[in-house]
Amino acid sequence: MERSSMHLVFLSTLQCLFLSTIASQAPALYIFGDSVVDSGNNNHLREGIKANHPPYGIDFPHRVASGRFTNGYTIADFFDKWLGLPLTPPYYSTNESVRHQTIKGFNYASGSAEILPEREGTFARSLDLKKQVKLFEESIQRYVRLHFESKDELHKYLSKSIFLVIVGSDDYLDNYLQPKHYNSSKLRRTDKLAEVLTRELALRLKELYNIGARKFIVSEISELGCLPYVINVVKPKTRCATNVNNAVAIFNRKLGVQLHSLSSTLKGSTFVTAKFTGLWEEILKHPKNYGIASIFLHPCFFWYHAYIVLMNTNRCFVFGCTRYVFAP
Ligand SMILES: *[C@@H]1O[C@H](CO)[C@@H](O)[C@H](O)[C@H]1NC(C)=O
Ligand SMILES: *[C@@H]1O[C@H](CO)[C@@H](O)[C@H](O)[C@H]1NC(C)=O
Repeated sequence: MERSSMHLVFLSTLQCLFLSTIASQAPALYIFGDSVVDSGNNNHLREGIKANHPPYGIDFPHRVASGRFTNGYTIADFFDKWLGLPLTPPYYSTNESVRHQTIKGFNYASGSAEILPEREGTFARSLDLKKQVKLFEESIQRYVRLHFESKDELHKYLSKSIFLVIVGSDDYLDNYLQPKHYNSSKLRRTDKLAEVLTRELALRLKELYNIGARKFIVSEISELGCLPYVINVVKPKTRCATNVNNAVAIFNRKLGVQLHSLSSTLKGSTFVTAKFTGLWEEILKHPKNYGIASIFLHPCFFWYHAYIVLMNTNRCFVFGCTRYVFAP
């Protein structure tokens, strides 16, 4: 009797040690970016794209259209799972009492958010990256700080937290899907755009560092030239719009240079680049290798501007959309 209970205690102590080691490695996940990782912030914006209606969320628990721009989980949700954290709440959608309780991170991502701030005089269609960093600062000062007895403790916590940043696609989609601008964009302009965007992104990352962030995961931009929406607008002769992909490749190259430079100048920082190059092309070439039945949209969807419009609700609910790359 005694022996077996000892054994149990030992096991659960080990388990506790193990779990607390993981937890102490990353006490929180803070998320910044666009629709790839938005989990409901845009629901609370007056203007802008929203994913709070079907077909979004049809493979999410209870089929909730939470504001995620996908049928199921976002990549940020998978990070939560891998880190053993609960789903990170969208900052804009949480009330005061939740904000006061939350210590495992917030999500500030916003569908259609850009690196470069929006033009003045328009309604906020999204929280651009600058605003997101401001909201992060606000949440630390107003809420998270109160959980710690000293500045040192807060900084220790922030330095162990993970900062996930996935942004930039919308700066390109806006640019490249406006034919007037696109038409005049020569390689040098593309180069300049990548330079400006990556420099601006680096400034935001530095601001996060100055608030206390140390561990960053920053994503490249995916091959936007392979998105059905882009293909519809650009109408390339090849499988993907090569010129759009080339423009994105320049951004990704410059991003690598910026991140390398940041990690060598910002003491104690770690920057991990989430590589995207080649992923879409590879999936489009060999969809079956990735458990994907079709690269095309489910017949009940069509792309209208940035939106996915539902054609036939019943069919979608019958089939689900997990096996289609570009279904929402
Ligand atoms: C705040 O939000 C939580 C979760 O949605 C909810 O359970 C709670 O009742 C809300 N509190 C107030 C004061 O509205
Ligand atoms: C730019 O657009 C005009 C008219 O739409 C077209 O005639 C011209 O060939 C385009 N130029 C380039 C470089 O694509």
